[in-house]
Amino acid sequence: MEIRRTDKPLTQVEADWLIVPVIESAELTGPLTLLDQALSGTLTRLKSLGDLTGKLASTVMLRGVVGIGAPRLLFVGLGTAQEISTARIDKALMTATRAIADKPNTKVAILVPTDPLGAVSTVGFIASAAASGQIGSLGQDLFRTERSRHPFTSLTLITANTPEAEAAIELGRIMGQAINLTRDLVNRPPQEITPLGFAKRAEAVAQEFGLRFEMLDQTRLQQEHMGSLLAVAQGSPQPPCMVIVEHNGGGPNGPRLALVGKGVTFDSGGLSLKPTDGMLTMKCDMAGAATVLGAMTAIARLNLPVNVVGYMGLVENMIGGNAFKLGDILTARNGVTIEVLNTDAEGRLVLADVLSYAVDAGVDRIVDLATLTGACVVALGEDVSGAFTNDQRWCDTLLAAAKTTGEDVWQLPMWDSYEDLIKGDIGDIKNTGGRWGGAITAARFLQHFVGKKPWVHLDIAGPAFASSNKPHREAGATGHMVKTLVELARRFGV
Ligand code: BES
Ligand code: MN
Ligand code: ZN
Repeated sequence: MEIRRTDKPLTQVEADWLIVPVIESAELTGPLTLLDQALSGTLTRLKSLGDLTGKLASTVMLRGVVGIGAPRLLFVGLGTAQEISTARIDKALMTATRAIADKPNTKVAILVPTDPLGAVSTVGFIASAAASGQIGSLGQDLFRTERSRHPFTSLTLITANTPEAEAAIELGRIMGQAINLTRDLVNRPPQEITPLGFAKRAEAVAQEFGLRFEMLDQTRLQQEHMGSLLAVAQGSPQPPCMVIVEHNGGGPNGPRLALVGKGVTFDSGGLSLKPTDGMLTMKCDMAGAATVLGAMTAIARLNLPVNVVGYMGLVENMIGGNAFKLGDILTARNGVTIEVLNTDAEGRLVLADVLSYAVDAGVDRIVDLATLTGACVVALGEDVSGAFTNDQRWCDTLLAAAKTTGEDVWQLPMWDSYEDLIKGDIGDIKNTGGRWGGAITAARFLQHFVGKKPWVHLDIAGPAFASSNKPHREAGATGHMVKTLVELARRFGV
C-alpha cells in the first residue's frame, strides 16, 4: 500500500473515500468549515440533526457526494478533546478504515485534524492513521475466494509538509507492517506454520530487515540439554527448533534486552488432549513468538539505538506413541527436574529452556510473551494481558510503555504462597499447580528459569486472538503487544 502526504485543501483531494475525524461537542473549525461550505452546509445540518456527534468511533457515511474531490465521505468520532488518547485514536481510525475496506482498489484519504488532540500530538495521529490504514484493511480471510477486506491501493494523509509528518508516516508504515506480520503468522493454518515453517518465514524477514538470524535445530537443542522443550516435541513428526534474531543498535558493550516468545505452532494438549472446542483455535499458540518477531522487525527498521535479541521456542504439541506422558520426569536445561502432571501445560515447558538459554547468553533484561493459560483469560477477560515479574522496577517500565501505546496490561501478584502449589513430589517442581490461581502458578513455574535477571512474563492468552469481529478489529490474530514491545525497546536505551 502506498502511503503518502498532501497539503492540498481537503475539498480538492481526490480519493474514493475521504475520512474526516470529528471531535465531540466541538465547533466546526479550520478544514471542517471549508468542507461545510463546499457541501452547502451539510455538516451544520448533520450536527443540528444530531447525526454528527463525534462520539468515540461513531461513524457517518455519505456516498455520492458532489462538490469536492472525493465522492464518498466517512466522518468518524474521536470523542471529547479532553479524553483523547492513543488508544482512542487507534480505535476510531481502525473503525473507520475497517468500515471502508470492503471493496478492492480503494484509494483513501484521511484528514489530519488541525485542532489540538488532547494528549495526542499531530505526529501521533499521523502514525496511528498510517498504521490503521494497513491493519484495518487486512482481513483474516487469507484463503477465501471473495475476501471481506481489501488492502487499500493508497492512503493519503492530508497534513502540512513537515519533516516530522514524513517521519510519522514512516513510523506508522513500519508499525502497521509489523503488526500485520504478526497477525499473518498467527492467522495462517498450523499445517503451514510448523516449527520449521515459522523459522523459514523468520529467516526471510530477518534477511529483509537486517536482523541477525540463527536457528538451533533439534540436534542442537539436544546438545543444549533442553529436556523440557524437547519432551513437548516428542509426540509430533514435526521437529522443534529455536529461532534467534538480533538487532545490535546499542553498541558492543551496551545492555541487551531479550524478548522471548512461546511458539507452540499447534497445541492439541498432547495426551491430556483438549476437547474440540478448546483445540479449535490452537494454531494461535505461537502468538508469543509471532509477536516477538513482529516487534523485532520494527525495532530493526526503526534502527533503535539498543541491543535486542528475540528468542522463539518452536514446537508442536501432539499425541502419538512417542508423546511425553503424565508422570514423566523432565530435566530442563538448567538442571531443574519437572514432574509432568498435564501435557497440556506445555507452554511453560517450552519457555523454561528458552528462558534459561537467554539467561546464559548474558542478556540483561527479559520479557516473555505467551498464550500461556486459560486461567489468565478467566481472571482478566479477553482483551487484557496479565503481567508477572520478579523485579517491580522493570515491570513498571513495561507498564508505562503499555500505557503510552494504549494496550491493556494488568499486573498479578507473585507471592511466595503460590510456590507451594507447584512444589514437586518426585521432582523439583510440577508443571501444574491445580485449578486455582492458574495464571500465577504458571508464572511462578517460569521464574525457576530466569535466575536473578529482571524479568516480566506477559500472558497474552486472551488478547492475542479475538473470538469475534468488532467494528475496530477483525476476529483472529490481533498483533496485541507489538507496539508495547517496540515502545519498551525505545525506552530501554535511555
Ligand atoms: N495454550 C494454552 C492456553 C490458552 C488457552 C491459550 C486459551 C489461548 C486460549 C495452554 O497451553 C494450556 O493449555 N494451558 C492449560 C494449562 C492447564 C493444563 C494447567 C489451561 O489453561 O487450561
Ligand atoms: Mn496447552
Ligand atoms: Zn499451549
